[in-house]
Amino acid sequence: MTLSAAQLRWGRLALVLFGTWAIFYRFWPVSHKHHFIGHPQQAWDDIAAIENGTLGFGKVFAINMASRPDKRDNIALGSSVCDFSVDWIDGVFPEDINPKTYPYNWKKDNQKSEYAARRAHVNGMRRIVEDRIGSAIIMEDDSDWDVNIKVQLQNFALGLREIQGTTDVPNTSPYGDDWDVLWIGHCGIECRTDLPFYEAPNDFTVPQSRHFLPYLRDASRFERPDHARLTCAIQDGVCTNMYAVSYQGAQRILAALSVNPLGLAEDIDIGAQFDTSLGAICGNGYLRCFAPYPALTGTYRSAGASEKSSDINDVKGDAVGFETRGVLYSTMLNVKQILNRQPVRATWEDVERPFMESDMIKIGAGSIYMVQLAADKKPRP
Ligand SMILES: *[C@@H]1O[C@H](CO)[C@@H](O)[C@H](O)[C@H]1NC(C)=O
Repeated sequence: MTLSAAQLRWGRLALVLFGTWAIFYRFWPVSHKHHFIGHPQQAWDDIAAIENGTLGFGKVFAINMASRPDKRDNIALGSSVCDFSVDWIDGVFPEDINPKTYPYNWKKDNQKSEYAARRAHVNGMRRIVEDRIGSAIIMEDDSDWDVNIKVQLQNFALGLREIQGTTDVPNTSPYGDDWDVLWIGHCGIECRTDLPFYEAPNDFTVPQSRHFLPYLRDASRFERPDHARLTCAIQDGVCTNMYAVSYQGAQRILAALSVNPLGLAEDIDIGAQFDTSLGAICGNGYLRCFAPYPALTGTYRSAGASEKSSDINDVKGDAVGFETRGVLYSTMLNVKQILNRQPVRATWEDVERPFMESDMIKIGAGSIYMVQLAADKKPRP
């Protein structure tokens, strides 16, 4: 049998297409393929502890400056309508900083207000260490969170336990026994690619990506279906809107950012703003850090003069409206609805479910994956 010219042409075209595909498949820097590892088989006992008055941690703290009772009101009422309690850590005024308190490696070209902000977080670490608190959330007082936060955190905990390799009921925390920092509210993280990650599908509290906070880092090496939330071990993060630390994590951060025992600061460069330093010590392995992607919590700004929005930077501009960032069913924007027992509304109008429904999240339905980098970097079996 001889091939016609047309058949030859098609054959050549097919070869060229196949070749192109093969080259892309082989050399595309990050192939967006995940290697499925398994469905979790784990104990669900004590996952309900996360519904308690401190979200399954020992304490929930918010950093607030005495000069901003308006923000303190927001957090007090927002936590009340979601049924958890907040304790306070005093924000630090830059004018109260004695330069003698700077650690020797503090980068002096940073602003004094940035050191003051870092100092407030470090005071939080000291509080946890002094009071022997097993774990705590620290949030900044412009935080906002989803009205579903307790269910979101339970789902997050199941993923965390899984990637920490907890097969039994954890001993020290419902979030697992092997973590220092849970970076819950961030404006960007980088997942580690050498460890497995967890993907929880069908979480309808995940905003569409066009409504994410502007993210300064991006977990985009990890392909993610629209309604999925990832939980991964991280090597960097930015913005400390909200995070949890374990007791041991607080000890280690206090050591790294203030006590500076001999030899530590030389090993890890940490003379930066709090979030930058925290990201760095997650990256160099000094702390075991984990995060959800997208972030679970975001930020809120009340209407009025634009300088209201930050106590660290000078923000100037015209008066602004209410704004929440990164949260689909915002607690702060729904305070009126919640108090009046009306349906909770989505932050944006162009969303699939403009009102919250009862079955937003399917708990524990996730799976474990390993990211597959370029084909030649595949881990050997
Ligand atoms: C909530 O649960 C955590 C973890 O089990 C526990 O440490 C904390 O004390 C509990 N909080 C309250 C208010 O019972």
